[in-house]
Amino acid sequence: MAFKRPHRFYYFDSQVYNFRGMAEDLTLVRGTKEDQYLSLIPQLEGLLDGEVDLIANLANITAALKEQFHWLWIGFYLVKDNQLVLGPFQGPVACTRIQKGKGVCGTSWTKKQTLIVPDVESFPGHIACSSLSRSEIVVPVIQHGDVVAVLDADSEHLNHFDDTDQYFLEKIVSLIRF
Ligand code: SME
Repeated sequence: MAFKRPHRFYYFDSQVYNFRGMAEDLTLVRGTKEDQYLSLIPQLEGLLDGEVDLIANLANITAALKEQFHWLWIGFYLVKDNQLVLGPFQGPVACTRIQKGKGVCGTSWTKKQTLIVPDVESFPGHIACSSLSRSEIVVPVIQHGDVVAVLDADSEHLNHFDDTDQYFLEKIVSLIRF
């Protein structure tokens, strides 16, 4: 007589199957900053592949960066009605609107350039969304020549961001399709 599996195992198998089908676990690595970005970027490409919803994609990018790097704050501000408006982010609550040319974010927008700020207290007009932030990098997201958003990362450590962050964060924002 053939072995008959108890019904509960069929139930268990189908739960495992569903879980595997839906899983979006990140593989997190230790190592140099470069190693961490090199591991993360193909995974971000996979997460974005086939998904056209902008908010879903921005949300996953911020979550993945937060999980890998544990920065104080990481998030997007989106250009809306000639202002930057808070978008998907990970970290403490933040200012909701930033005017063009104001703060590090608004300056990155105006200059269409990545800004690395080793000490936020030495950046004239820096907007302190969190008193814990000590250094910052802001990367503009440029589509068809216009800034459509900025990616902002804050650290509670001085001098935390460098050219490596700039290089890889610019690569990451280039994956986004608005
Ligand atoms: N510090 C930024 C404001 C945004 S928060 O840091 C999240 C700025 O000066 O534009």
